[in-house]
Amino acid sequence: QYNPVETVRQSIRSISDWPKPGVTFRDITPVLQDPRCFRMLIDIFVARYMRQRLDLVAGVDARGFIIGSVIAYELNLGFVPIRKKGKLPFETVGEDYDLEYGSSSVEIHTDAVKPGQRVLLMDDLIATGGTLLAASRLLQRLGANVVEAAAIIDLPELGGSKLIKESGLPVHALYEF
Ligand code: PRP
Ligand code: HPA
Repeated sequence: QYNPVETVRQSIRSISDWPKPGVTFRDITPVLQDPRCFRMLIDIFVARYMRQRLDLVAGVDARGFIIGSVIAYELNLGFVPIRKKGKLPFETVGEDYDLEYGSSSVEIHTDAVKPGQRVLLMDDLIATGGTLLAASRLLQRLGANVVEAAAIIDLPELGGSKLIKESGLPVHALYEF
């Protein structure tokens, strides 16, 4: 029977011991590669957001761009990239965040959102939640109203989605692994 959520789930590939021993990497490239699965994935998110009042979709470098931009296009919304440090040419604001080992930094153009705009924040996966929390702080510093942080996959054992919820931001993930 036709079950898009289950069909897409079965196309997510798990790779043991990558990028290091003990980690199982959830790989969405097979979903993107298959035209039917790619469309089902996008349509699932579009159905969730099409009746919500939104002004923009923001996506996080790099995998958040792949789905965020297509969802924005389908919803007739603009797209805003939140990029790793040093990539954006205009005036930026940045936020540092901790990774499992070390730290990283994301930036946004200061004119990317206007105060009060309703923004959907997209990434592919929530692990520790550090990336989406830093991205939502950037949007909030520019006065945006972040409506939801959404991802394809949540890894609940790493506690990221719980942290994001505790920060007061609604979180949505299609799958838990
Ligand atoms: C991965 C993933 C998320 C983030 C999740 O991106 O795409 O953006 O990590 O981890 P967190 O919840 O612990 O912050 P990565 O930094 O590997 O960059 P990439 O998209 O450029 O591969
Ligand atoms: N899969 C994809 N990206 C990730 C993962 C994972 O398991 N953990 C952190 N980023």
